[in-house]
Amino acid sequence: MLRNDPHIGAPRSRVDGPAKVTGAAKYAAEFEAPNLAYGYVVSSAVARGRIAAIETSAAEAVPGVLRVFTHENRPRAAWFSSSYQDEVAPPGTPFRPLYDEKVYYSGQPIALVVAETFEIARYAASLIRAEYETEEHETDLKLARAHAYVPPKKRSGITPPPKPEGDAMKAYADAPVRVWGEYNHAPEHHNPMEPHASTVVWEGGGKLTVHDKIQGVQNSQGYVASVFGLSKDDVQVVSPFVGGGFGSGLRPQYQLFLAVMAAIDLERSVRVELTRDQMFTFTHRPATISTVMLGAEPDGRLVSLKHDAVQGTSQFEDYQETVVNWSSLLYHPKNIALSYQIAKLDTYTPGDMRAPGAPTGISAIECAMDELAHATGVDPVELRLRNYTDRDENADKEFTSKELRACYRLGAERFGWAQRKPEPRSMREGRELIGWGMASGVWEAYMMKTSARATLTLDGKLEVATATADIGTGTYTILTQIGADAFGLAMEDVTARIADSSLPKSPIEGGSWTAASAGAAVDAACRSVREKLFGYAQTMKGSPLAGATIDQVSFANGRVVLTTDPSRSVTIAEAMRAGGVDRIQAEETASPSLLTKTRYASYTHSAVFAEVRVDEELGQIRVTRVVNAVAAGKILNPKTARSQVLGGVVWGLSMALHEETFTDHNLGRFMNHNIAEYHIPVNADVHDIEVVFVEEHDDKVSPLGVKGLGEIGIVGTPAAIANAVFHATGKRIRDLPITIDKVLAETA
Ligand code: MOS
Repeated sequence: MLRNDPHIGAPRSRVDGPAKVTGAAKYAAEFEAPNLAYGYVVSSAVARGRIAAIETSAAEAVPGVLRVFTHENRPRAAWFSSSYQDEVAPPGTPFRPLYDEKVYYSGQPIALVVAETFEIARYAASLIRAEYETEEHETDLKLARAHAYVPPKKRSGITPPPKPEGDAMKAYADAPVRVWGEYNHAPEHHNPMEPHASTVVWEGGGKLTVHDKIQGVQNSQGYVASVFGLSKDDVQVVSPFVGGGFGSGLRPQYQLFLAVMAAIDLERSVRVELTRDQMFTFTHRPATISTVMLGAEPDGRLVSLKHDAVQGTSQFEDYQETVVNWSSLLYHPKNIALSYQIAKLDTYTPGDMRAPGAPTGISAIECAMDELAHATGVDPVELRLRNYTDRDENADKEFTSKELRACYRLGAERFGWAQRKPEPRSMREGRELIGWGMASGVWEAYMMKTSARATLTLDGKLEVATATADIGTGTYTILTQIGADAFGLAMEDVTARIADSSLPKSPIEGGSWTAASAGAAVDAACRSVREKLFGYAQTMKGSPLAGATIDQVSFANGRVVLTTDPSRSVTIAEAMRAGGVDRIQAEETASPSLLTKTRYASYTHSAVFAEVRVDEELGQIRVTRVVNAVAAGKILNPKTARSQVLGGVVWGLSMALHEETFTDHNLGRFMNHNIAEYHIPVNADVHDIEVVFVEEHDDKVSPLGVKGLGEIGIVGTPAAIANAVFHATGKRIRDLPITIDKVLAETA
């Protein structure tokens, strides 16, 4: 056999799996340092106002306390807010911890106690007393929406809604069939298993090594350097493992600032780890209110589409998501009007949470489409096919590929959709009503400029390296596969090095772009090494490859082989010896194609089918089956890819039925800030989930034809489940999550 079986496209297990299950994998709060001190954060008890007085002497008197930092004695840090702007900050003034006496939200850090042990710091923190002068606060989006506004400055990467077309209101009024509804999404908080933490190692001579919970080490590095006036050479951020991010680790969080501040001031290593409660004191998925109006012909063909959304943001930043654009991307009648606004609340700035904007916006449009299916009597899948778009009419571009039709077809087949009885409440087993619902999903297929280095050594081992992260998605594994295939090596002969700020430049791991971007960069670096290796192989005296060109050879089993005559080959070691080297190294940068960016639109798609069983007397809902058919270009690793979609489906189920952060608007505080009361699904909530990857060839989206799929799994799932609940019960519940009280209270 000329080539080893390729690893790309094969279901390989995670190369970092053994380290994770044996505990060898270290997370930010697990790195040791000599003479480590521990910080504990004190949080504001009010939502808005100023700290009139803060009493720290009792805390300072506790033996073992090293220092108590407040706004009154905060060591020097950058003054201007622009210095605090990280790579992915939205427009506005980033939050500056302990900056002054102002309180912007409940839970804001107002003091840091640093002590010899975590327990001493925590105890001393309990002795700190603050007096506040409070001001009126607003945390209710339903009230604040009266002051909603179009963001004056758009957030980078977010496209404002497309311009209106036709006259959506008139067409709606004239339409034979009309549906409209207001869909509400509660705020949600990221709850990765690993809480946010930073261990800052004081290396002496002003140098810091930082272990931070972050989805992009170079983002933390840049932030620390800018805020504390350090050279990037003096700040190395190393975070090899991330215990889940989901967007909560895209931006440096306040524990990083506090830990670095304390380390510099005390000239000592410091760790600041947030508690689970404190995981509710920074970023979150914003509350969203969507209004959708659909006008259609009796056969379901849309004539008018209106989708308006408003989301909460903080007082200090204009956070934005893409919420409404998806609607006219999926369906594009002649008359369209979309709008997107944000409203200031006295909370921390919301942040990206898995597929930000999509499960919220798409739940609204896909539930509205289900209402239209019911109103017209057209099957929900058929309704979507009748309104299918073959181009991105928002941007007036062709798609690089769009196999959504195949998602509908294959998903429906696997699910057995043809057996569905259209009438709500028509399927039942014992005391349970059975409902089948479906929805579409769509998410952007991004590629970002990324650099990588490949190093091949005489012993036939390869290292590939880039500063990206692995937030549990499988980045280590796919980069290893790509490297191994470039030289026909075994997975064991390849090491992927990532998540160190000294490695070649990479953006944060987010937006589902890492496979396409870091993958392309590693592939390019490996190609470059191959060219050098081939050159050396040819210079060998009496080379069996003399006269061949690089496209006539293959790289397999540690050899460079003439493809048409495998008996003619040179080993990696022979080639390197011929070149007088013991390693070949290359660094390359992969950038998205300009042609693709200007001419084409690229998205991943999915069709989600869900079965629910609803206990009519108890209102309990079980999601017994989900089929998620995904078109995401080339699938590098069906095993890790499936895991990504499974996780997305579970989270979609959570958004549909479980997850919400409740706000006490009197106190202006998120109330259920713990996993006892913040409800997320457990194993018993998760039943049969099937992931189908639809074949999709795409030679434009990225060099490897990869689209990425970290986020698509969640997108259509909440709507599919909500539509299944309607089909089971005949009750249309437009406020997610659909909890028992709503099932029992709503009337049909
Ligand atoms: Mo993702 S929400 O871009 O980590």
